[in-house]
Amino acid sequence: MCQSETMHLAVDISFAHTDYLWGIPGSWQGYQYYGPDFYEDVARIAQRGMFDMVFFGDAAETPEHFDDGFSVPVRKGVRWPKHDMTPMIPLMARVAPKLGFGLTMSTTYHHPFHVARMFASLDHVTQGRMAWNAVTSAYKNEAANYGFEKMMPAAERYARAREHLEVVQKLWASVEPDAIRLDRENGIFAEPSKVHFVDHKGEYYNVRGPLPCIPSPQGKPVIIQAGQSDDGLNLAARHADMQFVQRRTAASITDHRTRLDGLLEKHGRQSRDLGVFWAVRTQVGETREDALRKERFYLDSVPGNAGLIELSIWYGIDFTKLDPKMKLADAAEAIRAEQVMWGTFQEILKTEDPDITVEEMGRKMLATRSNHVIGSPKEVADHLEEAHVAGGRNGGIILARSFAAPGMLRDFVELVVPELQRRGLVRKEYPERVTLRGLLDS
Ligand SMILES: Cc1cc2nc3c(=O)[nH]c(=O)nc-3n(C[C@H](O)[C@H](O)[C@H](O)COP(=O)(O)O)c2cc1C
Repeated sequence: MCQSETMHLAVDISFAHTDYLWGIPGSWQGYQYYGPDFYEDVARIAQRGMFDMVFFGDAAETPEHFDDGFSVPVRKGVRWPKHDMTPMIPLMARVAPKLGFGLTMSTTYHHPFHVARMFASLDHVTQGRMAWNAVTSAYKNEAANYGFEKMMPAAERYARAREHLEVVQKLWASVEPDAIRLDRENGIFAEPSKVHFVDHKGEYYNVRGPLPCIPSPQGKPVIIQAGQSDDGLNLAARHADMQFVQRRTAASITDHRTRLDGLLEKHGRQSRDLGVFWAVRTQVGETREDALRKERFYLDSVPGNAGLIELSIWYGIDFTKLDPKMKLADAAEAIRAEQVMWGTFQEILKTEDPDITVEEMGRKMLATRSNHVIGSPKEVADHLEEAHVAGGRNGGIILARSFAAPGMLRDFVELVVPELQRRGLVRKEYPERVTLRGLLDS
């Protein structure tokens, strides 16, 4: 994976209307919510910008962390609604025949047989352009939706994930690439000796196999992993082709890459076997003043307690009820006990002023929670280049969070991509005929 130093580009449109974006210009205007036209246009624009992938995160939940349950997220459209994006993939794949697609499916709640079969089938439909984002799922309402009274502890979710990923890959390998004969003359569809039982008997799953699918164009769809704790990094180093990472500074990016490289070596893999998409939030304008004006407009349209709401949803406790003057670091033990997104909370503690209060973090959260840049095309390109270099030019950038689509994607494609192309960082054209794996290697 990522055999060249190309800066690969992806865009996360999981939250294209949430984060209070649905109300601002450039967001969803003229489209039916969750209808196909929006997604098809996003795919067309991303392909015009030579992107590698459009990405869909997922959480099958309605956040309910507040006294009255879910009324805040529902009223404000914060991470709600959340449809299943699978049906959009074939539509997008038809209008953007070069683009790859990342789709999230939980290792905690979906059976590995279902995941293996779904992704093999989607890989056929997209002619080899699928990636699976394997997540362990850290949301309480999602756990309850799938019948669990209490969300499994993080260590158990990761233990399941390790076995889950093994089973899925065994299933993908259970039909050899040359098993299909389609020999009409002799009446042989496929060669049974090239199709194998999996006979997996493990702690969490028993799966007989084989997978009743024709080997897909990629054979093994691209695997993405997004956890940031030690368990998350280890899982990525063992199984993933790409990691999706939220680090807030260049120093933190380099540190993450160094840790990954150490773990990859432990698992007998090379640094370039695992690329990283660094998450960056961009706000670009024709000039710096233009970008600042757009950012001001966005922040002015967001309710004052938006950051506290967002913190609550990410970290499982109601931040709106904490003493605003309390140090953020003093909430760490309560958050760790929730067994949710501990890896990303550690990143905030590591990269913020140690004395930052809950109130201050709440004010900054939406705009600065991830690595971000606001500025002219040149300033945005400088920032992305810095992140790419800090990560060893091994992967690329995923545009993420507070990203109003399709407007901000169009701005990025028209203003920033030409600048990145001028610098030779991103591709100027797609290879002739290629799978997503091939694209990420080129
Ligand atoms: C950048 C990023 C994107 C993520 N996307 C998803 C997602 O779409 N769905 C999901 O359930 N979890 C998602 N996660 C959560 C992780 O898979 C994992 O469950 C969570 O980060 C807790 O594990 P950790 O402490 O190892 O980070 C994401 C995490 C990060 C850091």
